[in-house]
Amino acid sequence: MTADVQDTGGETPADVRARETEEQMSDEERFSLLVSVMGANPVTPVRDKRIPQGVPMSAGYVPGVPRLGVPALLMSDASLGVTNPGYREGDTATALPAGLALGASFNPELARAAGGMVGREARSRGFNLQLAGGINLARDPRNGRNFEYLSEDPLLSAVLAAESINAIQAEGVISTIKHYSLNCNETNRHWLDAIIDPAAHRESDLLAFEIAIERSQPGAVMTGYNKINGAYAGGNSVLIEDVLKGAWGYQGWVMSDWGATPSWEFALKGLDQESGAQVDVAMWKAEPFVQPLKAAYAEGKLPKERLSEMVRRILRSMFASGIDSWEQVPEVAMARHNEIALETARQGIVLLKNDGVLPLTADANARIAVIGGHAHVGVPTGTGSSAVTPPGGYAAVIKIGGRGFMGAGRNLYLLPSPPLAELKKLLASAQIEFDPGMHPAESAMMARRCDVAIVFAIRVEGEGFDNPDLCLPWGQDAVIEAVAAANPNTIVVLQTGNPVAMPWRDSVKAIVEAWYPGQAGGLAIAEVLVGNVNPSGRLPITFPADLAQTPRPELEILGTPWGTPVTIRYNEGAEVGYRWFAKQNEQPLYAFGHGLSYTSFEYSDLEVEGGDTITATFTVTNTGDREGADVPQLYLTAAVGEPRMRLLGFERVALQPGQSRSMTVTADPRLLARYDAGAGQWHVSEGAYGIALGKAADNLAFTAEAVLTERRFGS
Ligand code: BGC
Repeated sequence: MTADVQDTGGETPADVRARETEEQMSDEERFSLLVSVMGANPVTPVRDKRIPQGVPMSAGYVPGVPRLGVPALLMSDASLGVTNPGYREGDTATALPAGLALGASFNPELARAAGGMVGREARSRGFNLQLAGGINLARDPRNGRNFEYLSEDPLLSAVLAAESINAIQAEGVISTIKHYSLNCNETNRHWLDAIIDPAAHRESDLLAFEIAIERSQPGAVMTGYNKINGAYAGGNSVLIEDVLKGAWGYQGWVMSDWGATPSWEFALKGLDQESGAQVDVAMWKAEPFVQPLKAAYAEGKLPKERLSEMVRRILRSMFASGIDSWEQVPEVAMARHNEIALETARQGIVLLKNDGVLPLTADANARIAVIGGHAHVGVPTGTGSSAVTPPGGYAAVIKIGGRGFMGAGRNLYLLPSPPLAELKKLLASAQIEFDPGMHPAESAMMARRCDVAIVFAIRVEGEGFDNPDLCLPWGQDAVIEAVAAANPNTIVVLQTGNPVAMPWRDSVKAIVEAWYPGQAGGLAIAEVLVGNVNPSGRLPITFPADLAQTPRPELEILGTPWGTPVTIRYNEGAEVGYRWFAKQNEQPLYAFGHGLSYTSFEYSDLEVEGGDTITATFTVTNTGDREGADVPQLYLTAAVGEPRMRLLGFERVALQPGQSRSMTVTADPRLLARYDAGAGQWHVSEGAYGIALGKAADNLAFTAEAVLTERRFGS
């Protein structure tokens, strides 16, 4: 069932205007809104005739209807900044760290700052729709696109995505949320069928979308490339009609991903707009929402009401966001935006291990070896449509290549924030030398004559590719092993978009996960290493000890030739990440929520109340001797006698030494419920629920019990 704007009774001004505007349109005008075309870029090298001269190139262009005050849509990627590679030579924008870094901050305020930055920079370039809001859950540690997303947890992902979307839209720019749903692996994503139990889907990936959408009302939802339970995401009436527009009452429009509309009939399944039509030509040899959709309409196969609904949904989001009444170009303070990128990197860095070697002391005679990871040039980024060219351009681009559409953009992009130079600035009196980490023996020779060795290990991950395994490429494990054997004070700084295997874990003194740390990342890493910044990031994804512990030790789709129809069974259902590890009673290498600090925190006075939901109050105290931030986490551990692990709430808190803060967390009842697919409702069973307050999913300081009353609610 679709939400009918005419029957809602409580029409908003945007609803009214959308209805009245749509009524005045010709069919030709209606159809013109249903297709976006891509600007010239390496995949579609010729400027499409439909894009008027003077309109900036971007990921998507939809003409307006000036006589009715309908603006053209100019769409730009993505969540990590305003991307431009391939479209507008020379244009640059603030390059944020990976989504996982934001996830690791557990900080909604930072998400808001980052979203505002993206919205302002988009608007200042004339883009009125930002293809942001990537929220797919990190189900598989090989997914090449995990870096772009936020976490493996529905609540954490939803809270952060909603803040970012709200902030983008507060700048008068429409935001999407994407990729609806289960685009959780990249291999053959155009032919991938993701199989999941529908109720488990509601309790995991769909719950992330549900909470984020209700908190932020994004103007558009972008569907995934893949199929879900046999039907393409863009033509999946269960997900679009029944769940999104039906159960959740979503009022915005649904657009496809670029090249993900093989048939005009998707319009009958709830898809409102075809995106990047030229990519559909490359993929499926047709632009289905151009001639085929018009022909279907002429033959009566596409009802007039449906055509009107598609158009009204688009118009409604335009009018609700105010993109039709833009006046001034906002002021863009690039220095302030750099601060946001820097602060995100700082708060996103996770100190995984520290056997007393960090922070580095500013000993005048210290000899420090910095090894590998192109640390003398810059910091890496993830690749694909979210990669942003920073102000001043990349420090270096090393072509890597690969098959499929995304092969051309698979590069090692280095942002000009070299950790080596930043360390030298912060430790001006130390003797710091660099070794490229090319030959293990050569790196070991330098490490041997230094007091401390810092190895930078990197991995290129990105859109269109899954990683074959958890290993670091280019022989970096051998370099770390050789350095650790030569120097007892070895520190490893990882810059990766996923967990990695650490065969050398026990022989190094400290391990830092910096993700892809963005345009100010080198400085943030150096600040954490020397202790100017107290690390406060917490893992937003579980680091498995081994793939054998994960739901899919073998990822059978890997290595299939481009164009092969493949199936992936997400048999873990709602038990994603830490939930799976709890269910299987497996101990990961580093658990979800884990992250060390240079100070220490203690929790006390846990009180839990039941009833309709769970409310917990507790006190956090900084018991160390430095200022720092902690992220206490409240978990459900058991429901009516059955083990069930769910993050119920979290809050990041900055405390001075000795300072305490009392905190209250109230659980969203959907996190305490099971989704009853038969009844189409959430169901909380009556009984006792196990609650824990912890520092990580495997580090629970206190446990308690609360009794909940039976409830059925929602849809
Ligand atoms: C990606 C989307 C992106 C779109 C437009 C696709 O390849 O999956 O996330 O918004 O391209 O660039």
